[in-house]
Amino acid sequence: MTTRKFKKSDAPEVSRIMIAAFKTFLGRKWNWIDEKHFSPKTLAAASNTQSELDEAASFVAVEGKTVLGYIRGTASACGLGSLEVVGVDPATLHKGVGKALMKALEDFWRQKKQRKVHTCVCAHNSRALIYYLSNGFIPAGYRKDHFKPGVDEIILDRFF
Ligand SMILES: CC(C)(COP(=O)(O)OP(=O)(O)OC[C@H]1O[C@@H](n2cnc3c(N)ncnc32)[C@H](O)[C@@H]1OP(=O)(O)O)[C@@H](O)C(=O)NCCC(=O)NCCS
Repeated sequence: MTTRKFKKSDAPEVSRIMIAAFKTFLGRKWNWIDEKHFSPKTLAAASNTQSELDEAASFVAVEGKTVLGYIRGTASACGLGSLEVVGVDPATLHKGVGKALMKALEDFWRQKKQRKVHTCVCAHNSRALIYYLSNGFIPAGYRKDHFKPGVDEIILDRFF
């Protein structure tokens, strides 16, 4: 398995994977906004953007031609980056795909000289919380009813 930069032609397969991955913990909370958020069109538009002060980078993990997972993050001129989203094909969990994707984004953050990165995770998504903790993130706060009513978020930071 290797990682590489996301290409627009990956969008349909990444969309399928992200929808399946996020449904594993959102269950009945999944809605049309999530569907739109992970549509091929939205993914293609958000994956590699650049302005004077901010840049987004996206990577996929692949085995041959098969896409296994996706990660997107940002870097900013002030040195505060973010991990926006990560998902692995539910058929390929616990095989190190998430860690490999994190490594690709870490290389990007280091190259862009980020001093700190942040993300958040649904409080009930214990699998992802453990993934973030084991990849160096530390809890920094708690947001009630944040993106959706009834779904709280744990804020996570990581310093470089
Ligand atoms: C969170 C998520 C990305 C983790 O992906 P993953 O590919 O399962 O992660 P990894 O395999 O790198 O690590 C998970 C565990 O698998 C095990 N593992 C790692 N490499 C392994 C290998 N080669 N063989 C067997 N097990 C392995 C480890 O126990 C690891 O946990 P640890 O690092 O705490 O010991 C994945 O669960 C996911 O897509 N979840 C749904 C979407 C989601 O929740 N996204 C985050 C929203 S905020």
